[in-house]
Amino acid sequence: MGSSLLKSKSIPTQSIEHTKTPLSLSDLNDLCDATDSSIEDGGGFGWTDLPDRDTLETYWQGVVAMPSRLLFLARQEGIICGSAQLLFAPKNNQAQGFTAKLMSLFIAPWARQEGLASTLLTYIERTARDEGIEVLNLDIRATQHSALKLYENAGYIKIGEHPYYARVNGETIKGLYYYKKLKPQNSDL
Ligand SMILES: CC(C)(COP(=O)(O)OP(=O)(O)OC[C@H]1O[C@@H](n2cnc3c(N)ncnc32)[C@H](O)[C@@H]1OP(=O)(O)O)[C@@H](O)C(=O)NCCC(=O)NCCS
Repeated sequence: MGSSLLKSKSIPTQSIEHTKTPLSLSDLNDLCDATDSSIEDGGGFGWTDLPDRDTLETYWQGVVAMPSRLLFLARQEGIICGSAQLLFAPKNNQAQGFTAKLMSLFIAPWARQEGLASTLLTYIERTARDEGIEVLNLDIRATQHSALKLYENAGYIKIGEHPYYARVNGETIKGLYYYKKLKPQNSDL
């Protein structure tokens, strides 16, 4: 699982990559800025209160260090503006080794509505398939309407609901569970 880069065909200033190497200071700073702005906008990937910068930096460097996780980065004009993570099954879970969990996908508010999330999603699916993954799973708050549209347009199939999935500002929110069976190699995703 090395680093890789895909330049968007339609908009040359956008790019997507995945990495297992520690982030540079400037990338780490941009990723923390993007995270802050997404949390302030309503988040969607766990944080409900803005963490301090040290906590956030430790979190992101930890994501890159974890062997069972792959970090994806989206850039606009070279600046990190979003990310996502693939979580692979641990080695002892051979039975689910062909599946992975897609989590924590977000694009900072300033870079939205320009196709980055759908380009990122396509790239993640290709990378997962190249890693031998056949099925992607994800779960999401029922209130994340843009993300739900993104996943449903991309062919993710809803399989269930969890009535006590998350709590934000004291309000309990329903969660939705999806999967997508990836097409085999040599076919377009
Ligand atoms: C969901 C989310 C990732 C979408 O990011 P995004 O980069 O804005 O997504 P896209 O640009 O690919 O698609 C969004 C819309 O922009 C449209 N779009 C794409 N390219 C465009 C362009 N060049 N010009 C104008 N609109 C465009 C898409 O058609 C899509 O429209 P639709 O919502 O009517 O279907 C983002 O809103 C987000 O981070 N939300 C909060 C976090 C979250 O919910 N994460 C998921 C759970 S962990």
